[in-house]
Amino acid sequence: MVDQAEGLRNLVNEQSKIEKTKIKKTRKKTKIISIASGKGGVGKSNLSLNLALALADLEKKVLLLDADLGLANINIMLGIIPKFNLYHVMKGKKKFHEIIMKVPHGIDIIAGASGFSDLANLDTEMRKIFIRSLNSLEKYDYIIIDTAAGVSANVLGFVQASNEVIIITTPEPTAITDAYGIIKTIVHAEFTDIRLVINRVKSIIEGKKVSDRIIQISKRYLDVDLKNLGYLFEDPSLPKAVRKQEPVIRAFPNAQITKSFRHIAEIIDNRINDKNKQTIKSFFRKFLRPKNKKNLI
Ligand SMILES: Nc1ncnc2c1ncn2[C@@H]1O[C@H](COP(=O)(O)OP(=O)(O)OP(=O)(O)O)[C@@H](O)[C@H]1O
Ligand SMILES: [Mg+2]
Repeated sequence: MVDQAEGLRNLVNEQSKIEKTKIKKTRKKTKIISIASGKGGVGKSNLSLNLALALADLEKKVLLLDADLGLANINIMLGIIPKFNLYHVMKGKKKFHEIIMKVPHGIDIIAGASGFSDLANLDTEMRKIFIRSLNSLEKYDYIIIDTAAGVSANVLGFVQASNEVIIITTPEPTAITDAYGIIKTIVHAEFTDIRLVINRVKSIIEGKKVSDRIIQISKRYLDVDLKNLGYLFEDPSLPKAVRKQEPVIRAFPNAQITKSFRHIAEIIDNRINDKNKQTIKSFFRKFLRPKNKKNLI
């Protein structure tokens, strides 16, 4: 029987073959972005999926990797049953590139392996091999990695293999505390390219208060400058889309949250690179949305 280690050794062989045939100067730069959170259920999978689609709509080639090795979700959110997933790669039954699925929404995905607890904690060597294989998938402009909640060694491994990490939190005090916890661990692991998204806000003011607090505390105690990517409003379209097993940006193209996902994709893709523009825009939105006035302090 092929064991997990052998499966991973096959990955290395596969990767070295790719490297041998690679023409260095045509190498395209793939940007790897991990999405992580301290607390569970704060919106990682929805951000990963909709951000991946929004980037694809900007004509980018995107791979979405469901790296929640315990409780995979992305395929459920898309209403698809993948034939193969990461489990088959780990067990040596499939090569990495053989489990990449094209989905009708314009992105490729690698499905996670739900319910296999032996995958949930890869050992250091296996994690390194896994991550190196990921780096060989260079035809993509973006690889978006949806991680499991909290700071496991797996999550940290994925984060360290990325160009940047997006930490998502809601305004709940427990979520904010856990967000700071994961930021601290990531910074201690000497990774500092951290961006922040505040989800389920009721107003721009609320989002700004939460992000300012996390940014200030991180600066003061960890000496790290976090970048604010923006806010996602509490929006009933999102759970509706989840129930329909469709991404919200496809099911509800005009929803507020769809516009916010697209806005975040544009910032990531450097289409809006002036950070102040966001602030000015936020101010205008704040004054144009009368229902937010009650939230002014
Ligand atoms: N902006 C929002 N507005 C309304 N509901 C939301 C919003 N964001 C998330 N939710 C709700 O929270 C649920 C969980 O979201 P999601 O699965 O993306 O979280 P997660 O961080 O990936 O969870 P897990 O830690 O379990 O992987 C959604 O199915 C939806 O019902
Ligand atoms: Mg999830």
